Order: sequence, then structure tokens, then C-alpha cells
Amino acid sequence: MANNLLAGKRGVIFGALDEQSIAWKVAERCAEEGARLTLSNAPVAMRFGKIQELGDKVNAEIIPADATSLEDLENLFSKSMDALGGKIDFVLHSIGMSLNVRKGREYTDLNYDFMLKTFDISAISFHKVMQTLWKMDAMNEWGSILALTYIAAQRTFPNYSEMAESKALLESFARSFGYHFGAAKKVRVNTISQSPTMTTAGSGLKGFQEFFDYADKMSPLGNAPAESCADYCVTMFSDLTKMITMQNLFHDGGFSNMGMSPAFLSIDEE
Ligand SMILES: NC(=O)c1ccc[n+]([C@@H]2O[C@H](COP(=O)([O-])OP(=O)(O)OC[C@H]3O[C@@H](n4cnc5c(N)ncnc54)[C@H](O)[C@@H]3O)[C@@H](O)[C@H]2O)c1
Repeated sequence: MANNLLAGKRGVIFGALDEQSIAWKVAERCAEEGARLTLSNAPVAMRFGKIQELGDKVNAEIIPADATSLEDLENLFSKSMDALGGKIDFVLHSIGMSLNVRKGREYTDLNYDFMLKTFDISAISFHKVMQTLWKMDAMNEWGSILALTYIAAQRTFPNYSEMAESKALLESFARSFGYHFGAAKKVRVNTISQSPTMTTAGSGLKGFQEFFDYADKMSPLGNAPAESCADYCVTMFSDLTKMITMQNLFHDGGFSNMGMSPAFLSIDEE
């Protein structure tokens, strides 16, 4: 159901690779709510992904950018402002990749060059996005910047490996830059901590299906699907959430506040 919550707003969405991607669903929902968008992904993802299909669907220009490259980011935001006809109201950072996970390295045997690259792609890119927007003065007042994260930033999930530290860093950047953006420009910065979701990045983790089922059973509402995450992002980009900033917002069906669930015990519940 569309309510024109984003009518007249201009947004940039990073990270839609295919229709499973959380960013893909967010772009669809934002367009439904009246936003005008540009879409971005790494140049290499243009070759493998289906982002052009999404661009056609939501009537958005696609502007490639490696989110670790300041030059690419400047080009992206400058072209986005041209395409959208003004400053930007909202940005979604939906980017994550671990080289050590991809190469099958155990947490007790990590390659540090890979680790630095992982941090650059998955966390420092968020700072780079915000710093570029800041220096270009590209955000409108009362704009909203979001990144997607995972609860492994706070708790231990062994197979998440170095992505846990990436997410801790990402969430910290949201708080720190959130101060500067809030005080100077009335722009809010938050992270949404999403349930396990069946996507290319998610299902790259060892034992992901079992883990997905575990989280689903542990959460009173079940795992939050990507479509609900898109709804949440829409509200966070809308004017209904203007005073929320520097927060890590759990969107996980209740998982983060569970201790023990009777769903895992073999005793009968009366
Ligand atoms: N899937 C899950 O279980 C889950 C849970 C919580 C949070 N998240 C987070 O959601 C976000 C989106 O992931 P997803 O699950 O939709 O998977 P996805 O694989 O569809 O999206 C990840 C995106 O990152 C992009 N990317 C990688 N390197 C890049 C670079 N250098 N520059 C620009 N883009 C780059 C990829 O091309 C891809 O589009 C990530 O931050 C992920 O950590 C995912």
C-alpha cells in the first residue's frame, strides 16, 4: 500500500545486485512512495547483476561507483544531483563483503590484507559516503542516511567472522558522523540491524540455511523479511521519523531481546 510518504524526495540507493538484494526491495518501495532515485553499485556488479532491470522498473538512472573510491563517490553524487534536479534527501548504504569469508579462511587464520579490504568495503565506505556528501554539501536539511547492519556487532556469531568487526565499525561511524550531520545540517544517520535474509551476501556464510532457521525459531515474530526491511527504510526516510538519529535500530522480529526460547526445549508447554 502506497501513502506518498516520500513524495518529492530524492534518494540514492547503493547495493541492489539482484531481486533478492535488500536494496532492490527498498528501491521498489521508495519508488512506490513517490521518491525519485538513482541507483549505484560497484562497476563489477554491473556485469553480473540485474540492476538495469531495476532501473527500468523504478525509472532510475544507474551510476556505477566503487564505494571505496572517493572519486567514484563524488561523481555519483554530482551526477545524482543533476539527474534528480537538486540536493539529496536520503541515502541507503547496503554494502557488505568479506574477503576472508569468501576465500574460506577461518577466524583463527585471517589474512590481514583481506581484512583491511573487508573493512574498507563494508564499513569505511560508509564514512566515505558521508564525508563526500558532507564536503559537497549534497544533503538537504532533515535528510536521512541509513546503513544496514547485523547483530554480530554486539554478540558473537562465529561464522560471521570479520564481518562482526566490520559491522561494529559501521555502527560506530553512524553515531559519530550522526553527531556532525545532526548538529550542522539537521541530517539524521542511523543503522538498521536486520534479521538473516536470503541474499547473495547472506547466503555466502557457512551454514546459513541452518542459521536462518534458528533465528526464525528464536524470534517471536519470525525473521523479518527483506520486504519489511524496505517498509522500515521508507519510514526512516520519511518525515515521520525526523528526530531519530545516531541509533542502531533492530529490525529482527524480536530476536535481539530473546534469552531462551521454549521453541527449542523438548518439554511440553502448558
Ligand atoms: N542478508 C542478510 O542476512 C543480512 C542481514 C543483516 C544485514 N545485512 C546487510 O545488508 C546489506 C545488503 O546485503 P544483502 O543481504 O542485500 O546482499 P547483496 O549481496 O544483495 O548486497 C551486497 C551489495 O554490496 C555490493 N558491493 C560489494 N562491494 C562493493 C563495493 N566495493 N562498492 C559498492 N558496492 C559493493 C554488492 O555488489 C551487492 O550489491 C549488507 O550491508 C549486509 O551486510 C544482510
